[in-house]
Amino acid sequence: MKLLVTGGAGYVGSVCAARLVEAGHDVVVVDDLSTGHADAIPDGCKFVEADIAEAAGDLLAEPFDGVLHFAAKSLVGESMENPQKYWHGNVVTSLRLLDAMREHGTPRLVFSSTAATYGEPEIELITEDSPTDPTNTYGATKLAIDHAITSYAAAHGIGAASLRYFNVAGAHGAIGERHTVETHLIPIVLQVALGQRDQVQIFGEDWPTADGTCVRDYIHVTDLADAHLLALKGTQPGQHRIYNLGNGTGFSVKQVIDTCREVTGHPIPAKVAPRRAGDPATLVASSQAAREELGWQPQRADLGVIVRDAWEFTRARHQA
Ligand code: UFG
Repeated sequence: MKLLVTGGAGYVGSVCAARLVEAGHDVVVVDDLSTGHADAIPDGCKFVEADIAEAAGDLLAEPFDGVLHFAAKSLVGESMENPQKYWHGNVVTSLRLLDAMREHGTPRLVFSSTAATYGEPEIELITEDSPTDPTNTYGATKLAIDHAITSYAAAHGIGAASLRYFNVAGAHGAIGERHTVETHLIPIVLQVALGQRDQVQIFGEDWPTADGTCVRDYIHVTDLADAHLLALKGTQPGQHRIYNLGNGTGFSVKQVIDTCREVTGHPIPAKVAPRRAGDPATLVASSQAAREELGWQPQRADLGVIVRDAWEFTRARHQA
């Protein structure tokens, strides 16, 4: 298929573009490089450096079989301080993309949604029909886009899937997580192992969880990318499907740090700090729908494998 990948220079977008090329698809990446890296765009992709809000109409004038839409602002903290950046950067940009798809009859869409659309549901495993009550602007913008996709799909015959990611980590060979400002747990812990930070801060030890630290469901970025290929294949004209993507097992912040200690052989000093605003205590996915309807079978569910791949990527870049 001929596919447009928005945000294909970012972490998840570039891994997904690599998997699409490996599967034989013809891939065009569009990215404004505001947070992505040109050298992360996989070989074999055509690259257009542009803002999607401005370029979508022209790009889709050429027929495409589908769009995978990753381009987004994605820092929870920043979304609370600078909401207009998220409502414009995420919602307005996505509406322009949807309008261009409608105008040119692009038939398929796979969208990067997030567990942040749910907020803090007090249930063990979050399913797609759990209530959506986002606790931050980032999650609210992604939920708004999900609603827009539902109506565009129904009215204009687009076959769409929204994939709600839980905590993405790991690396796909030489493509991995490289944020200018790092806020995510695993990359921060690995920076300590590399000697780039003295210690990791544990944001709260008084949460209602087994060891008092927050629990998350970590998913390997390659498994996540594979779900996109399946979701794309499974789209049905006029229907918008939503799938949670996680492994269904929660790990606490302390368990993640312990796994990083085992993988890196570094003692990784940790210090308990105050809670971080907006953090839910526990977020774990039920991905039964993705498994049953898409046939998705994660191959790298083990946290040790996820951390090992992230560590190999981090060390290789540090040595380069
Ligand atoms: N944490 C620490 N110390 C750190 C960094 C993180 O203790 O230095 C903790 C956080 O408080 C949280 C856990 O580690 O409890 C995971 O934090 P991350 O920042 O790695 O990930 P989040 O769970 O906050 O966010 C992820 C995605 C978001 C998405 C969200 C859905 O990165 O894009 O899941 O809830 F919105």
